[in-house]
Amino acid sequence: MPSLKDKSIVITGAAGGIGAAIAKALAADGGRITVADLSEAAARTVAGEITAAGGTAIAVAVDVRQRAQVRALIDQAVAAHGRLDVLFNNAGVAQTRPFLDITEEDWRFVTDVNALGVLIGMQEAIKTFKAQGGGGKIVNTASIAAKQGYEPLAHYCASKFAVVALTQAAARAFGKEQITVNAFCPGVVATDMWKTIDKGFRDSGLTSHDNEAFDTFAAGAVLGRPSTPADLVGVARFLASSASDFMTGQSLLVDGGMVFT
Ligand SMILES: NC(=O)c1ccc[n+]([C@@H]2O[C@H](COP(=O)([O-])OP(=O)(O)OC[C@H]3O[C@@H](n4cnc5c(N)ncnc54)[C@H](O)[C@@H]3O)[C@@H](O)[C@H]2O)c1
Repeated sequence: MPSLKDKSIVITGAAGGIGAAIAKALAADGGRITVADLSEAAARTVAGEITAAGGTAIAVAVDVRQRAQVRALIDQAVAAHGRLDVLFNNAGVAQTRPFLDITEEDWRFVTDVNALGVLIGMQEAIKTFKAQGGGGKIVNTASIAAKQGYEPLAHYCASKFAVVALTQAAARAFGKEQITVNAFCPGVVATDMWKTIDKGFRDSGLTSHDNEAFDTFAAGAVLGRPSTPADLVGVARFLASSASDFMTGQSLLVDGGMVFT
């Protein structure tokens, strides 16, 4: 894999789960990482672990729904690391609701973080890429729920379909400036997010014991096990590096074989 040495890489939602795994792996590859998250304390812990291991990282508190905060995040990354090379729009939230119970408030909560947050991140990063003279990579975290509708996660699925649409539209808009925009689509990954989803299934009476929803969904992977955050590191490395320079507008399923398109 081509080197990520000294690449300035911002990762949102990097205080835990998939984002933290990517942050640590890309730091080990030589990337200069900005660990961004709503949870400042947890972001500081991840950045501290990276620096303790000999890597380079800063932590920045951000709410991806707030444009001024996202602008300040990218400006801090540029101030600390000299430029911006890659933005991972990875922050996300999930919520389990039977289809008829989804409220306007639920819709706005999920789509504000997962779709509006991605739009704002892309816009602010691309302004910086253009100011740097072009080039740069956006990597969005979509989902199997970006390819397939699942009944008690309809608003989550809608927000992730939106990520694919934004990825394609931005790829078309900024290709001439050699800015690439891609996404990857995890399957069922053992993180705090799935604890929330699984609890939602139980609270809604859709399952009767803990981990039942997780186990049932994970059983759909032909590779025969649930995913861990480490399973997403390879695709993250590829999409952040020059190995993916001639690829844009794509959303890659990395789900152990759950959804085939
Ligand atoms: N876990 C899965 O099975 C799975 C599957 C497909 C896609 N995904 C996607 O992967 C991404 C990472 O999820 P995860 O599983 O690591 O979950 P996670 O809950 O472990 O991590 C999500 C992170 O996003 C942060 N966050 C939430 N709202 C934010 C906001 N407004 N601003 C900034 N940060 C915010 C949280 O604090 C948290 O650290 C999400 O986009 C999620 O939708 C997860």
